[in-house]
Amino acid sequence: MRIYCSENYETMSRVAANIISAQIIFKPNCVLGLATGSTPIGAYKQLVKWQKKGDLSFTQVRSVNLDEYVGLSPEHSQSYRYFMNENLFKQVNINIENTNVPNGMAENPEEECSRYNSLIEELGGIDLQLLGIGHNGHIGFNEPEAAFNLNTHVVKLSETTIEANSRFFDNDISKVPTHAITMGIKSIMHARKILVVASGADKSDILVKTFMGSVMPEVPASILQMHPDVTLVGDKAALSGLINAGAKITL
Ligand code: PGA
Repeated sequence: MRIYCSENYETMSRVAANIISAQIIFKPNCVLGLATGSTPIGAYKQLVKWQKKGDLSFTQVRSVNLDEYVGLSPEHSQSYRYFMNENLFKQVNINIENTNVPNGMAENPEEECSRYNSLIEELGGIDLQLLGIGHNGHIGFNEPEAAFNLNTHVVKLSETTIEANSRFFDNDISKVPTHAITMGIKSIMHARKILVVASGADKSDILVKTFMGSVMPEVPASILQMHPDVTLVGDKAALSGLINAGAKITL
C-alpha cells in the first residue's frame, strides 16, 4: 500500500483530488465509487475547481455511492443522494443519470440491494473506490462484526449511531432512520483501486489498528490490508500513530 502524508486537511484534500483526477484522465469513462462524510468534502471542492477551470471533465464518468439511509428521499437534506448532488454532482459536468446512490425509498430494500449489485456488475466493476473511515473502523455502514463476504445489503443501525444521528433530525429520535443500504465489504474489496482519506488526530488510533493490527471483523477496515492496491492519503495528525509505529510513508 502507499501512504501519502500531507501537512493539513487542505493539502490532503488536494492529493486525494489529484488521485481521483488521474483516474478520470487515464480512463474518462471510469466507474468511481464515492463516499459521503466530512472528510471527502475538500477533495470534492478541489475537483469542482479543476473541472470549472477545464482541467478535468466528468462527461463520461459513472459513479456508484457506498450507502444510503432507508426511508430518506433524495430531497431530504440528510440523505446521501442530497449530499452528493450538493457537494459534487450539481457542480461538475457529470451526467446525473450516470450517478448512482442506493435508493433509500425503494419499496423493497432487499430487492434494491440486488439491483445495486447487478448495476455495479453491469458497469464493469469499480475502478477507484473512495473511502472515509469511522472511529470504530467502519467503512460505509459496515460496522464492527460485519461479515467480510457480503455485497450490498440492508443493515440495522446501532442504538448509539441512531442516538448520535438525532442531532441531524431536530433531536427527534423518531425521525432518525433505523436502517441503511450499504455496499458490503466484498463489494468494496472488488474495487480495482481503493483510496482512503483521513484527517485529524482523532483518526490516528483507528488507522494504526486498521493498517498495522490484525485483520478481523471487529475492525472492518482492517480487511483493506488484503487489497492489492490501496492508497491512504492523510494529514500529519491522522497519520501520526502510523508514523510512530514505523509505517513506511511513501511520500
Ligand atoms: P467522516 O466519516 O469523514 O465524517 O470522519 C467517515 C466515516 O464515518 O465513514
